[in-house]
Amino acid sequence: ARKIIIDTDPGQDDAVAILLALASPELEVLGLTVVAGNVPLPHTQRNALMLAELAGRPDLPVIAGCDAPLSRPLVTAEHVHGKTGLDGVDLPEPTMTLTPGHAVDFIIETLRREPAGTVTLVPIGPLTNIATAFQKAPDIIPRVQEIVLMGGAYFEVGNITPTAEFNIYVDPEAAAIVFDSGVRLVVMPLDVTHKVLTSRAWVGKMQALGPVGQAVASWTDFFERFDREKYGSEGAPLHDPCTIAWLLAPQIFSGREINVVIETAGQYTTGMTVADWWRVTDRKPNALFIRDVDAGAFFDLLTQRITQLDRR
Ligand code: BDR
Ligand code: CA
Repeated sequence: ARKIIIDTDPGQDDAVAILLALASPELEVLGLTVVAGNVPLPHTQRNALMLAELAGRPDLPVIAGCDAPLSRPLVTAEHVHGKTGLDGVDLPEPTMTLTPGHAVDFIIETLRREPAGTVTLVPIGPLTNIATAFQKAPDIIPRVQEIVLMGGAYFEVGNITPTAEFNIYVDPEAAAIVFDSGVRLVVMPLDVTHKVLTSRAWVGKMQALGPVGQAVASWTDFFERFDREKYGSEGAPLHDPCTIAWLLAPQIFSGREINVVIETAGQYTTGMTVADWWRVTDRKPNALFIRDVDAGAFFDLLTQRITQLDRR
């Protein structure tokens, strides 16, 4: 199985990504490293513990990480995810506890321990933990197999400012470190994540499963409310699960190898992923920037895996 570390700020869509990963025998989740993002760290770490328990994995290392971006105050998204970050379902108070230590050190130690080129990082929140690990221990950078992240946008521009996607906007300095690191990047921007929208029929299918499916259905309902009120659109975009779906079924996605740099100093554009989609610069490609997905195949995969989790 392919070894991954999920770096996360759960978040209803983070939750679905984590469940999809834990349901998939092709992946070995070495741990959940938690970061502040959608909501402050005390909530995201508690949410991560509740998710591990919901998935029946109280053995999974869950490690708390950075509680604020590298050099800016934290920006959160309660307007999307609710006060706890996982509003929509009341899960039982977690009985498992955090693995001692700091997420940054867990990332460093794991990459040093495992054979070089065998651990993939899957960041689905702001990139603070990953960038801090790279700064603290540059020797781990060439040991990373790949980074498959959710963040950024090009044609879809922004969701937190007119030009910036949330994960990149919250910590653009961290994003710049990751995008300039030289590690092979697969990027799931809003351009693709806005194409995997939940439907009423799919939510109904989830509702008919066991406790995991029902949680997924209720989160989706909660999360969808924001997009419906804001954009008048039907369905919730399953941003973060795109990263895990890529690891399971890359053939359902398509994109381009391009250069992407992060705007950290723009007057209006801080946090923008400046994506050279049309290759108008001679900057070298540093990312596979995904734009399209077979949404039907994506939902078939997700349905199958969530169903399996509820059958255990
Ligand atoms: C990203 O921001 C968060 O709100 C979601 O969990 C996702 O990671 C989408 O812009
Ligand atoms: Ca997230």
